Amino acid sequence: MQRFDKTIPRETSASLKYDGRLETFGTNDILPMWVADMDFAVPDAVTEALQARASHPIYGYSIAPESLYQALIDWLLLKHQWPVKREWIVLTPGVVPSLNLVVAALTAENAGVIVQPPVYFPFLSAVKDQHRRLIENPLILEEDDLGNLHYQMDLSQLDNCAREASLLMFCSPHNPVGRVWLKDELLALLAVAKKHNLIILADEIHADLVYADTQHHTLSRLAFKNAPATSSIDAPHAIITAVSPSKTFNIPGLGLSALIIPDATYRQTIQSHLTKIAVSVTNPFSMIAFEAAYRGGADWLSELMAYLQATRDEAVAFIRAHIPKINAVCPEGTYLLWLDCRKLNIDDKALALFFVQEVQLGLSSGAMFGCGGKGFMRMNIGTPRANVMKALDRLKSALS
Ligand SMILES: Cc1ncc(COP(=O)(O)O)c(C=O)c1O
Repeated sequence: MQRFDKTIPRETSASLKYDGRLETFGTNDILPMWVADMDFAVPDAVTEALQARASHPIYGYSIAPESLYQALIDWLLLKHQWPVKREWIVLTPGVVPSLNLVVAALTAENAGVIVQPPVYFPFLSAVKDQHRRLIENPLILEEDDLGNLHYQMDLSQLDNCAREASLLMFCSPHNPVGRVWLKDELLALLAVAKKHNLIILADEIHADLVYADTQHHTLSRLAFKNAPATSSIDAPHAIITAVSPSKTFNIPGLGLSALIIPDATYRQTIQSHLTKIAVSVTNPFSMIAFEAAYRGGADWLSELMAYLQATRDEAVAFIRAHIPKINAVCPEGTYLLWLDCRKLNIDDKALALFFVQEVQLGLSSGAMFGCGGKGFMRMNIGTPRANVMKALDRLKSALS
Protein backbone atom coordinates (compact mmCIF):
# COMPACT_ATOMS: atom_id res chain seq x y z
CA MET A 1 0.00 0.00 0.00
CA GLN A 2 1.25 3.45 -0.94
CA ARG A 3 1.46 6.12 1.73
CA PHE A 4 -1.14 8.18 -0.15
CA ASP A 5 -3.66 5.31 -0.08
CA LYS A 6 -3.92 5.59 3.69
CA THR A 7 -7.15 6.97 5.07
CA ILE A 8 -6.52 9.51 7.81
CA PRO A 9 -9.70 10.49 9.64
CA ARG A 10 -10.03 14.28 9.54
CA GLU A 11 -13.39 14.68 11.24
CA THR A 12 -13.14 16.64 14.49
CA SER A 13 -9.74 18.05 13.53
CA ALA A 14 -11.52 21.37 12.91
CA SER A 15 -11.04 20.82 9.19
CA LEU A 16 -13.03 23.16 6.96
CA LYS A 17 -13.35 20.44 4.33
CA TYR A 18 -14.83 17.89 6.78
CA ASP A 19 -16.19 19.79 9.76
CA GLY A 20 -17.58 22.54 7.54
CA ARG A 21 -19.81 20.16 5.57
CA LEU A 22 -22.99 20.82 7.50
CA GLU A 23 -22.67 24.56 7.14
CA THR A 24 -21.72 24.44 3.46
CA PHE A 25 -23.83 21.60 2.12
CA GLY A 26 -26.55 21.25 4.77
CA THR A 27 -25.44 17.72 5.63
CA ASN A 28 -22.47 15.77 6.95
CA ASP A 29 -23.45 12.82 4.80
CA ILE A 30 -21.25 13.57 1.81
CA LEU A 31 -17.78 12.76 0.58
CA PRO A 32 -16.05 16.16 0.77
CA MET A 33 -14.15 16.96 -2.44
CA TRP A 34 -14.42 20.71 -2.45
CA VAL A 35 -12.00 23.13 -0.70
CA ALA A 36 -8.45 22.72 -2.04
CA ASP A 37 -6.50 20.85 0.57
CA MET A 38 -5.48 17.20 0.37
CA ASP A 39 -6.30 14.26 2.61
CA PHE A 40 -2.63 13.22 2.69
CA ALA A 41 -0.11 13.38 5.53
CA VAL A 42 2.51 16.06 4.89
CA PRO A 43 6.20 15.16 4.35
CA ASP A 44 7.81 13.64 7.46
CA ALA A 45 10.37 16.43 7.43
CA VAL A 46 7.55 18.91 8.11
CA THR A 47 5.93 16.91 10.91
CA GLU A 48 9.28 16.29 12.59
CA ALA A 49 10.29 19.94 12.42
CA LEU A 50 6.93 21.02 13.86
CA GLN A 51 7.17 18.47 16.65
CA ALA A 52 10.64 19.67 17.52
CA ARG A 53 9.42 23.27 17.64
CA ALA A 54 6.33 22.35 19.67
CA SER A 55 8.57 20.77 22.28
CA HIS A 56 10.03 24.19 23.00
CA PRO A 57 7.30 25.46 25.32
CA ILE A 58 7.28 29.15 24.45
CA TYR A 59 5.37 30.34 21.40
CA GLY A 60 6.15 34.02 21.33
CA TYR A 61 6.15 36.62 18.56
CA SER A 62 8.29 35.54 15.68
CA ILE A 63 10.70 36.84 13.11
CA ALA A 64 11.56 34.96 9.91
CA PRO A 65 15.15 33.70 9.93
CA GLU A 66 17.39 34.22 6.90
CA SER A 67 17.46 30.44 6.46
CA LEU A 68 13.73 30.54 5.58
CA TYR A 69 14.33 33.02 2.77
CA GLN A 70 17.25 30.93 1.58
CA ALA A 71 15.10 27.78 1.53
CA LEU A 72 12.63 29.53 -0.80
CA ILE A 73 15.42 30.94 -2.99
CA ASP A 74 17.01 27.48 -3.29
CA TRP A 75 13.65 25.88 -4.15
CA LEU A 76 12.80 28.40 -6.86
CA LEU A 77 16.24 28.01 -8.41
CA LEU A 78 16.31 24.23 -8.29
CA LYS A 79 12.71 23.55 -9.20
CA HIS A 80 12.00 26.45 -11.56
CA GLN A 81 15.47 27.66 -12.62
CA TRP A 82 14.43 31.05 -11.32
CA PRO A 83 17.19 33.11 -9.66
CA VAL A 84 15.44 35.25 -7.07
CA LYS A 85 17.19 37.87 -4.99
CA ARG A 86 16.68 37.96 -1.24
CA GLU A 87 15.42 41.54 -1.26
CA TRP A 88 12.64 40.74 -3.77
CA ILE A 89 10.85 38.54 -1.23
CA VAL A 90 7.99 39.90 0.86
CA LEU A 91 6.40 37.37 3.20
CA THR A 92 2.60 37.46 3.34
CA PRO A 93 0.01 35.58 5.41
CA GLY A 94 -1.44 33.66 2.44
CA VAL A 95 -1.98 34.06 -1.28
CA VAL A 96 -5.58 35.28 -1.05
CA PRO A 97 -4.55 38.11 1.29
CA SER A 98 -1.72 38.81 -1.19
CA LEU A 99 -4.18 39.14 -4.07
CA ASN A 100 -6.16 41.73 -2.15
CA LEU A 101 -3.02 43.48 -0.98
CA VAL A 102 -1.57 43.89 -4.47
CA VAL A 103 -4.86 45.11 -5.95
CA ALA A 104 -5.22 47.65 -3.13
CA ALA A 105 -1.60 48.78 -3.17
CA LEU A 106 -0.90 49.06 -6.88
CA THR A 107 -4.16 50.20 -8.44
CA ALA A 108 -6.36 53.24 -7.92
CA GLU A 109 -10.01 53.09 -6.96
CA ASN A 110 -12.12 52.15 -10.00
CA ALA A 111 -9.06 51.09 -12.00
CA GLY A 112 -9.65 48.27 -14.46
CA VAL A 113 -8.38 44.86 -13.37
CA ILE A 114 -8.43 41.95 -15.82
CA VAL A 115 -9.25 38.39 -14.78
CA GLN A 116 -9.65 35.36 -17.02
CA PRO A 117 -12.67 33.35 -15.88
CA PRO A 118 -13.60 30.72 -15.02
CA VAL A 119 -11.06 31.46 -12.33
CA TYR A 120 -10.43 30.89 -8.61
CA PHE A 121 -13.23 33.02 -7.14
CA PRO A 122 -11.10 35.17 -4.76
CA PHE A 123 -9.70 36.80 -7.92
CA LEU A 124 -13.19 38.14 -8.58
CA SER A 125 -13.86 39.18 -4.99
CA ALA A 126 -10.44 40.84 -4.62
CA VAL A 127 -11.36 43.21 -7.46
CA LYS A 128 -14.90 43.87 -6.25
CA ASP A 129 -14.04 44.17 -2.55
CA GLN A 130 -11.28 46.68 -3.27
CA HIS A 131 -13.73 48.71 -5.41
CA ARG A 132 -11.89 48.19 -8.66
CA ARG A 133 -13.51 47.58 -12.02
CA LEU A 134 -13.67 43.92 -13.05
CA ILE A 135 -12.72 43.38 -16.68
CA GLU A 136 -13.36 39.80 -17.73
CA ASN A 137 -11.45 38.13 -20.51
CA PRO A 138 -13.08 34.68 -20.49
CA LEU A 139 -11.00 31.67 -21.44
CA ILE A 140 -11.97 30.01 -24.71
CA LEU A 141 -13.19 26.42 -24.44
CA GLU A 142 -12.62 24.15 -27.43
CA GLU A 143 -13.73 20.57 -28.00
CA ASP A 144 -11.97 18.30 -30.47
CA ASP A 145 -13.55 15.48 -32.54
CA LEU A 146 -12.87 12.99 -29.74
CA GLY A 147 -14.67 15.14 -27.19
CA ASN A 148 -11.50 16.34 -25.42
CA LEU A 149 -11.98 19.76 -23.88
CA HIS A 150 -9.20 22.31 -23.97
CA TYR A 151 -9.02 25.87 -22.64
CA GLN A 152 -7.03 28.69 -24.18
CA MET A 153 -6.52 32.35 -23.42
CA ASP A 154 -8.22 34.85 -25.70
CA LEU A 155 -5.10 36.87 -26.45
CA SER A 156 -6.65 39.25 -28.97
CA GLN A 157 -9.46 40.08 -26.57
CA LEU A 158 -6.82 40.49 -23.84
CA ASP A 159 -5.25 43.16 -26.01
CA ASN A 160 -8.60 45.00 -26.09
CA CYS A 161 -9.15 44.62 -22.35
CA ALA A 162 -5.64 45.88 -21.60
CA ARG A 163 -6.42 49.27 -23.12
CA GLU A 164 -8.54 50.16 -20.09
CA ALA A 165 -6.80 48.18 -17.36
CA SER A 166 -3.88 48.70 -15.02
CA LEU A 167 -3.51 45.17 -13.66
CA LEU A 168 -3.90 41.61 -14.91
CA MET A 169 -4.51 38.92 -12.32
CA PHE A 170 -3.09 35.80 -13.87
CA CYS A 171 -3.53 32.26 -12.56
CA SER A 172 -0.68 29.93 -13.59
CA PRO A 173 -1.28 26.97 -13.49
CA HIS A 174 -4.92 27.81 -13.78
CA ASN A 175 -7.48 26.92 -11.13
CA PRO A 176 -10.08 25.53 -11.91
CA VAL A 177 -9.39 24.38 -15.48
CA GLY A 178 -5.97 22.85 -14.81
CA ARG A 179 -4.10 24.49 -17.67
CA VAL A 180 -0.30 24.73 -17.43
CA TRP A 181 0.38 27.57 -19.82
CA LEU A 182 2.86 26.98 -22.64
CA LYS A 183 5.91 29.15 -23.10
CA ASP A 184 4.48 30.63 -26.31
CA GLU A 185 1.22 31.53 -24.61
CA LEU A 186 3.13 33.25 -21.82
CA LEU A 187 5.35 35.15 -24.24
CA ALA A 188 2.27 36.37 -26.11
CA LEU A 189 0.74 37.48 -22.81
CA LEU A 190 3.93 39.32 -21.88
CA ALA A 191 3.88 41.12 -25.22
CA VAL A 192 0.34 42.40 -24.56
CA ALA A 193 1.30 43.49 -21.04
CA LYS A 194 4.36 45.32 -22.30
CA LYS A 195 2.41 47.08 -25.06
CA HIS A 196 -0.14 48.42 -22.57
CA ASN A 197 2.08 48.91 -19.51
CA LEU A 198 0.05 46.39 -17.61
CA ILE A 199 1.19 45.20 -14.19
CA ILE A 200 0.82 41.42 -13.84
CA LEU A 201 0.06 39.65 -10.61
CA ALA A 202 0.91 36.01 -11.32
CA ASP A 203 -0.60 33.60 -8.80
CA GLU A 204 1.70 30.59 -9.14
CA ILE A 205 0.59 28.73 -6.03
CA HIS A 206 0.06 25.55 -8.10
CA ALA A 207 3.44 25.80 -9.88
CA ASP A 208 4.89 22.68 -8.25
CA LEU A 209 1.81 20.56 -8.94
CA VAL A 210 2.22 19.79 -12.62
CA TYR A 211 2.06 16.38 -14.25
CA ALA A 212 4.74 14.58 -16.27
CA ASP A 213 5.25 15.83 -19.83
CA THR A 214 4.23 19.31 -18.72
CA GLN A 215 6.46 22.11 -17.57
CA HIS A 216 5.54 25.14 -15.57
CA HIS A 217 7.26 28.32 -16.74
CA THR A 218 7.56 31.09 -14.19
CA LEU A 219 6.24 34.17 -15.95
CA SER A 220 8.67 36.52 -14.24
CA ARG A 221 11.69 34.41 -15.14
CA LEU A 222 10.52 34.24 -18.74
CA ALA A 223 10.18 38.02 -18.84
CA PHE A 224 13.77 38.46 -17.67
CA LYS A 225 15.08 35.84 -20.04
CA ASN A 226 13.46 37.59 -22.94
CA ALA A 227 14.35 41.08 -21.86
CA PRO A 228 16.90 42.94 -24.00
CA ALA A 229 20.43 41.69 -23.40
CA THR A 230 21.36 45.01 -21.84
CA SER A 231 19.00 44.65 -18.90
CA SER A 232 20.54 43.35 -15.73
CA ILE A 233 18.91 40.83 -13.42
CA ASP A 234 17.47 43.59 -11.28
CA ALA A 235 15.98 45.56 -14.14
CA PRO A 236 12.62 46.85 -12.88
CA HIS A 237 9.61 45.22 -14.38
CA ALA A 238 6.03 44.89 -13.48
CA ILE A 239 5.47 41.26 -12.60
CA ILE A 240 4.63 40.29 -9.06
CA THR A 241 4.52 36.58 -8.34
CA ALA A 242 2.71 34.86 -5.51
CA VAL A 243 4.35 31.62 -4.37
CA SER A 244 3.69 29.33 -1.46
CA PRO A 245 4.49 25.85 -0.14
CA SER A 246 0.89 25.52 1.05
CA LYS A 247 -0.73 23.65 -1.86
CA THR A 248 2.46 21.81 -2.80
CA PHE A 249 3.05 20.27 0.62
CA ASN A 250 -0.50 20.36 1.98
CA ILE A 251 0.06 22.96 4.69
CA PRO A 252 -2.48 25.66 3.69
CA GLY A 253 -3.88 25.89 7.21
CA LEU A 254 -0.58 27.31 8.41
CA GLY A 255 -0.92 30.44 6.29
CA LEU A 256 2.45 31.64 5.07
CA SER A 257 3.31 32.64 1.52
CA ALA A 258 5.52 35.08 -0.33
CA LEU A 259 5.35 37.72 -3.01
CA ILE A 260 8.35 38.01 -5.30
CA ILE A 261 8.61 41.65 -6.32
CA PRO A 262 11.72 42.59 -8.31
CA ASP A 263 10.69 46.23 -8.67
CA ALA A 264 11.79 48.26 -5.64
CA THR A 265 9.04 50.88 -5.87
CA TYR A 266 6.25 48.32 -6.10
CA ARG A 267 7.87 46.41 -3.30
CA GLN A 268 7.94 49.40 -0.97
CA THR A 269 4.34 50.32 -1.81
CA ILE A 270 3.14 46.79 -1.10
CA GLN A 271 5.22 46.48 2.04
CA SER A 272 3.86 49.72 3.44
CA HIS A 273 0.25 48.64 2.74
CA LEU A 274 0.99 45.42 4.56
CA THR A 275 2.43 47.31 7.50
CA LYS A 276 -0.62 49.59 7.62
CA ILE A 277 -3.07 46.74 8.08
CA ALA A 278 -1.00 45.51 11.02
CA VAL A 279 -1.41 41.84 10.26
CA SER A 280 1.11 39.49 11.78
CA VAL A 281 2.61 37.60 8.84
CA THR A 282 4.50 34.79 10.52
CA ASN A 283 3.98 32.57 13.51
CA PRO A 284 6.36 30.01 15.02
CA PHE A 285 4.68 27.06 13.32
CA SER A 286 4.03 28.52 9.88
CA MET A 287 7.71 29.43 9.54
CA ILE A 288 8.97 26.05 10.64
CA ALA A 289 6.67 24.21 8.20
CA PHE A 290 7.50 26.59 5.32
CA GLU A 291 11.24 26.06 5.63
CA ALA A 292 11.11 22.34 6.38
CA ALA A 293 8.81 21.71 3.39
CA TYR A 294 11.06 23.49 0.91
CA ARG A 295 14.19 21.89 2.35
CA GLY A 296 12.95 18.36 2.89
CA GLY A 297 9.84 17.82 0.76
CA ALA A 298 11.18 17.18 -2.76
CA ASP A 299 11.03 13.37 -2.71
CA TRP A 300 7.59 13.38 -1.13
CA LEU A 301 6.43 15.74 -3.89
CA SER A 302 7.72 13.43 -6.65
CA GLU A 303 5.80 10.53 -5.11
CA LEU A 304 2.71 12.69 -4.70
CA MET A 305 2.70 13.74 -8.35
CA ALA A 306 3.07 10.16 -9.57
CA TYR A 307 0.16 9.15 -7.33
CA LEU A 308 -2.05 12.06 -8.39
CA GLN A 309 -1.29 11.43 -12.05
CA ALA A 310 -2.39 7.80 -11.77
CA THR A 311 -5.56 8.98 -9.99
CA ARG A 312 -6.22 11.62 -12.63
CA ASP A 313 -5.77 9.12 -15.46
CA GLU A 314 -7.99 6.49 -13.87
CA ALA A 315 -10.68 9.04 -13.04
CA VAL A 316 -10.75 10.60 -16.51
CA ALA A 317 -10.80 7.15 -18.17
CA PHE A 318 -13.65 6.03 -15.90
CA ILE A 319 -15.72 9.11 -16.68
CA ARG A 320 -15.15 8.68 -20.44
CA ALA A 321 -16.12 5.00 -20.28
CA HIS A 322 -19.04 5.09 -17.86
CA ILE A 323 -20.46 8.59 -17.40
CA PRO A 324 -21.29 9.84 -20.90
CA LYS A 325 -23.32 12.79 -19.62
CA ILE A 326 -20.26 14.29 -17.96
CA ASN A 327 -17.02 15.30 -19.62
CA ALA A 328 -13.84 15.80 -17.58
CA VAL A 329 -11.23 18.35 -18.54
CA CYS A 330 -7.97 16.46 -18.07
CA PRO A 331 -5.81 18.77 -15.90
CA GLU A 332 -2.16 19.38 -16.85
CA GLY A 333 -1.54 20.62 -13.33
CA THR A 334 -3.34 20.99 -9.94
CA TYR A 335 -5.29 18.26 -8.14
CA LEU A 336 -8.57 19.70 -9.36
CA LEU A 337 -10.81 18.02 -11.90
CA TRP A 338 -13.13 20.34 -13.84
CA LEU A 339 -16.30 18.50 -14.79
CA ASP A 340 -18.49 19.62 -17.66
CA CYS A 341 -22.03 18.74 -16.60
CA ARG A 342 -23.83 20.89 -19.17
CA LYS A 343 -25.41 17.85 -20.83
CA LEU A 344 -27.47 17.32 -17.67
CA ASN A 345 -29.28 20.47 -18.72
CA ILE A 346 -30.14 21.72 -15.25
CA ASP A 347 -29.47 25.07 -13.65
CA ASP A 348 -26.61 25.53 -11.19
CA LYS A 349 -28.72 25.37 -8.06
CA ALA A 350 -30.28 22.10 -9.20
CA LEU A 351 -26.85 20.79 -10.25
CA ALA A 352 -25.35 21.51 -6.83
CA LEU A 353 -28.37 19.88 -5.13
CA PHE A 354 -28.11 16.86 -7.39
CA PHE A 355 -24.51 16.27 -6.30
CA VAL A 356 -25.32 16.68 -2.61
CA GLN A 357 -28.63 14.82 -2.46
CA GLU A 358 -28.40 12.15 -5.16
CA VAL A 359 -24.65 11.48 -5.23
CA GLN A 360 -23.68 12.43 -1.65
CA LEU A 361 -20.72 14.37 -3.00
CA GLY A 362 -19.56 17.78 -1.86
CA LEU A 363 -17.98 19.52 -4.87
CA SER A 364 -17.42 23.19 -5.69
CA SER A 365 -20.06 24.68 -7.93
CA GLY A 366 -18.60 25.94 -11.22
CA ALA A 367 -20.84 29.01 -11.13
CA MET A 368 -18.67 30.42 -8.32
CA PHE A 369 -15.73 30.73 -10.70
CA GLY A 370 -17.46 33.38 -12.77
CA CYS A 371 -18.21 33.61 -16.45
CA GLY A 372 -17.97 30.21 -18.19
CA GLY A 373 -18.38 28.27 -14.94
CA LYS A 374 -22.09 27.59 -15.25
CA GLY A 375 -22.89 23.91 -15.75
CA PHE A 376 -19.49 22.83 -14.37
CA MET A 377 -18.42 21.35 -11.04
CA ARG A 378 -14.91 21.19 -9.55
CA MET A 379 -13.79 17.97 -7.91
CA ASN A 380 -10.75 17.80 -5.62
CA ILE A 381 -8.90 14.52 -6.28
CA GLY A 382 -6.27 15.10 -3.58
CA THR A 383 -7.53 12.15 -1.58
CA PRO A 384 -6.85 8.38 -1.57
CA ARG A 385 -7.64 7.03 -5.03
CA ALA A 386 -10.26 4.68 -3.57
CA ASN A 387 -12.27 7.77 -2.51
CA VAL A 388 -12.14 9.26 -5.99
CA MET A 389 -13.30 6.01 -7.57
CA LYS A 390 -16.02 5.59 -4.93
CA ALA A 391 -17.26 9.09 -5.75
CA LEU A 392 -17.27 8.40 -9.47
CA ASP A 393 -19.03 5.09 -8.96
CA ARG A 394 -21.77 6.91 -7.05
CA LEU A 395 -22.02 9.45 -9.84
CA LYS A 396 -22.30 6.72 -12.43
CA SER A 397 -25.11 5.02 -10.47
CA ALA A 398 -26.95 8.30 -9.88
CA LEU A 399 -26.95 9.03 -13.59
CA SER A 400 -27.82 5.60 -14.90
C1 LIG B 1 -5.02 29.92 -7.43
C2 LIG B 1 -5.11 29.93 -5.94
N1 LIG B 1 -4.62 30.97 -5.23
C3 LIG B 1 -4.67 31.01 -3.89
C4 LIG B 1 -5.23 29.97 -3.17
C5 LIG B 1 -5.29 30.05 -1.67
O1 LIG B 1 -4.11 30.52 -1.15
P1 LIG B 1 -3.96 30.81 0.42
O2 LIG B 1 -4.54 29.63 1.14
O3 LIG B 1 -2.48 30.93 0.60
O4 LIG B 1 -4.69 32.07 0.71
C6 LIG B 1 -5.75 28.87 -3.84
C7 LIG B 1 -6.40 27.78 -3.10
O5 LIG B 1 -7.08 26.96 -3.63
C8 LIG B 1 -5.68 28.85 -5.25
O6 LIG B 1 -6.15 27.81 -5.96
